[in-house]
Amino acid sequence: MQTEAENTWDNEESRSPNSNSGNTLENTEPQASSLTKIKIIGGNPLYGTIPISGAKNCALKLMCATLLTGEDMYFENSPNSLRDMRSQRELLEYLGCKVEHEGSALTINAGDIQTYTAPYDIVRKMRGSILVLGPLLSRFGEAKVSLPGGCAIGTRPVDMHINGLEEMGATVILDEGYINAKAPAGGLQGAKILFPKVSVGATENLLMAATLANGTTVLANAAKEPEIVDLGECLIKMGAKISGLGTDTIRIEGVKSLNGTHHSVIPDRIETGTYIIAAGMAGGTIQLQNARIDTLSAVLGHLSQAGIEVTQSGNDIVVSREIERLNGVDIMTEPYPGFPTDMQAQFMALLTRAEGAGMVTETIFENRFMHVPELNRMGADITVQGNSAIVRGVEQLKGAEVMATDLRASVALVLAGLVAEGETTVNRIYHLERGYEDIVGKLGGVGANIYKA
Ligand code: EPZ
Repeated sequence: MQTEAENTWDNEESRSPNSNSGNTLENTEPQASSLTKIKIIGGNPLYGTIPISGAKNCALKLMCATLLTGEDMYFENSPNSLRDMRSQRELLEYLGCKVEHEGSALTINAGDIQTYTAPYDIVRKMRGSILVLGPLLSRFGEAKVSLPGGCAIGTRPVDMHINGLEEMGATVILDEGYINAKAPAGGLQGAKILFPKVSVGATENLLMAATLANGTTVLANAAKEPEIVDLGECLIKMGAKISGLGTDTIRIEGVKSLNGTHHSVIPDRIETGTYIIAAGMAGGTIQLQNARIDTLSAVLGHLSQAGIEVTQSGNDIVVSREIERLNGVDIMTEPYPGFPTDMQAQFMALLTRAEGAGMVTETIFENRFMHVPELNRMGADITVQGNSAIVRGVEQLKGAEVMATDLRASVALVLAGLVAEGETTVNRIYHLERGYEDIVGKLGGVGANIYKA
């Protein structure tokens, strides 16, 4: 099993290659692999099978949940090769966890934690690190976690995480860019927490914190994403008392301690949705292995309107395009079970070649149209008005050199490249590698003319 000396990587917001922070971890900036671009020659229909990986946005939180017990935690279907997973492994090792991984197997033991501090140099690489705050505070009574700072797609404050912990009796002081949190003597107290806005991360942080708190916690207006249900099911296997997962009211009866367990990570619904759109745009028929249709209901409705049919067969999903040219459709992003914001850019790419127009409205993040100017460079016809974009379908896109700006924007450019005339070059692919395992191998395996350069 491998341990965590390998390189790490910074995500979309930090571009400073030389920030050595002198902490105990060897934190040299990664030897960026020389292959920083993806090149695509468009026009090939897709045929064959693509294996779907475990969900990034679940696995990252499951890793934080291991801090709630001193026993071994075993995960299967874990998307270990993702850059974000590397950053999270790096953070857990820094805290003192034993972390081993091989293929999609991951084992973590938090029996010998050395520090309760999550340093800026690691947290700035991946915002999901903020999810160690609740578990550390709940199990050890204190935590010092760097504030994640801004991000390409929005300001993304963590006020709801902090306010919730304060309602559970914690004292929280923001100082020098760090959240310094201390639990009251005897530990966190159960509380009734009403979120002013639906937040995936705040729901998860407080869900984990409440498992070891004294008494009952109720999370109202909670997020309902499938990744939260999967996290909750793993916590229940660890001995937590939780009800109401998948609803907007989650109830947690605190317990004295939690045990280790085995858990298989839920398939990645965003990766699944991305490949469904790839086949819908490029044509052909593909089979997505180990994918779940039930977690994509809002997306499938819009895809069907556009002309893409998706069927579940056993553990797989089969995708085919029924009509020559897809239809324009309007979408508006919302918390689950609404249309996921993490599918917005991919759906916009689909609309660039549809018959007629479609309106795309983004309600979750204030700056999530960074892919628009890049798609327009490829001959798309998109205009942005506030948090909406009008996409008028064009006959043909043309290959061009484009720049990735964030994870989902970058994959939208790859999708556009699959159908564009000629060659498309997507730069800064590290954005992609944060959330898509082996995308070049997976698309190349079903006939796309795609390679790293
Ligand atoms: C998670 O981010 C996902 N990230 C995001 O996926 C996803 O887009 C988002 O949920 C929404 O579905 C991970 O799971 C690692 P939020 P999170 O808290 O938890 C505001 C991807 O592409 N807010 O639900 O950070 C916030 O600014 C990524 O894989 C506050 O104001 O999202 C946003 O506008 C991108 N205060 C809204 O709520 C808070 O304390 C929803 O954010 C917390 C959030």
